[in-house]
Amino acid sequence: MNFEASLAFAQQKDKEDKLASYKEQFFFPQKDGKDVIYFCGNSLGLQAKSVQEAVQQELDDWKNFGIAGFLHAKNPWMYYQEYFTQPLSKIVGCKQNEVTVMNSLTVNLHLLMLTFYRPTSSRFKIIMEAGAFPSDQYAVETQVKHRGFSTDDAIIEIAPREGEKTIRNEDIISTIEANAESVALVMLGGINYYTGQLSDIKSITEATHKAGAIAGFDLAHAAGNVHLELHDWNVDFAVWCSYKYLNGGPGAVGGLYVHEKYASDPSTPRFGGWWGNDEEGRFKMKKGFVAKPNASGWNISTAQILNMASLKASLEIFEEAGFENIKAKSKELTDYLEFLLQQIKHVSFEIITPSNKESRGAQLSLYFKEKGKEIHEKMIANGIVVDYREPGVIRVAPAPLYCSFEDVYRFYDILRAF
Ligand SMILES: Cc1ncc(COP(=O)(O)O)c(C=O)c1O
Repeated sequence: MNFEASLAFAQQKDKEDKLASYKEQFFFPQKDGKDVIYFCGNSLGLQAKSVQEAVQQELDDWKNFGIAGFLHAKNPWMYYQEYFTQPLSKIVGCKQNEVTVMNSLTVNLHLLMLTFYRPTSSRFKIIMEAGAFPSDQYAVETQVKHRGFSTDDAIIEIAPREGEKTIRNEDIISTIEANAESVALVMLGGINYYTGQLSDIKSITEATHKAGAIAGFDLAHAAGNVHLELHDWNVDFAVWCSYKYLNGGPGAVGGLYVHEKYASDPSTPRFGGWWGNDEEGRFKMKKGFVAKPNASGWNISTAQILNMASLKASLEIFEEAGFENIKAKSKELTDYLEFLLQQIKHVSFEIITPSNKESRGAQLSLYFKEKGKEIHEKMIANGIVVDYREPGVIRVAPAPLYCSFEDVYRFYDILRAF
């Protein structure tokens, strides 16, 4: 694509963009009476205007039906988790029986580690990335200790090489191979929250299986952002939150994927509860948990209807816009941001997100050796919402459903004037 660093070019791109009108379907925070430009969808996606009505529907049905809402609400609550399997299966690339929603990310990570991290005295190690999101670090650390191992013995962290900012895939593969006798689980981020690096999930999963271990991924920054084929890549399990690119709202219900070779087998170990029990038998009060033969067999408690309604409304937008279109726009928008940043010669910064387009999603992380904080403050003062992470990193995530080429140009325009 031949890009141009001009406002007229950016505006022309917006005119040609078939998803441009989706911007109007979202609420924007205000700055000086105007919509901000919002590049923080990698932290918390914006609220779709349809969310209010979706939540109101459930409030009305609760008001009007009481307990009968479980069967007679417009969207019967008994089956609420089922409404997500179709849209989410397209987004994460799996079969409908392999995906469900419940709890939130870290809780689901713990629950799936109970299923998939089954250490023995010889095979007990977990390979993860150094600098993983804190909650993932805490989850892995406490699981390892819970199973009676020391973190020093059981956790292997892979870091970027000296002088580099991102992890080389070859280093991940060679670490797996070097620990083939003792690794139980490879647990990595799909996209690293700090650098924006997208893992090569397919090759990592292959190497993990060759070593006789389980491959699990935290897709917090990948779900709804990049192309995934969890089933075909043979990934064992994955978890994600729904409040970033999926726009489900703060603390929205999390998602999880379990490959059907485990999901269809009710004897796969797990912690059970009535919502994961076979629906036929649920009220017969018989002894014995019988898991549903799909990912919903990991559900434990009653579906959290008010929390889930916003995600349901948001996924309807994904369905209507088409995830293929969303991904195509996302690539172009991020490529355009990269192109514009490359035109700036006099401000000193480094794009630490990989330049290889297959190794990133909608986020570019910019490392400023100096003035990072100042630049961040100037962006905020100009109504451009980006976030700042020490030391000196500004993360810019042009989410394609509500960001435009002109938005990206405005960011460039302020940065180049620095
Ligand atoms: C990569 C990653 N993992 C885990 C979490 C924690 O998610 P939760 O608070 O929903 O458990 C986050 C939250 O932003 C995240 O970005």
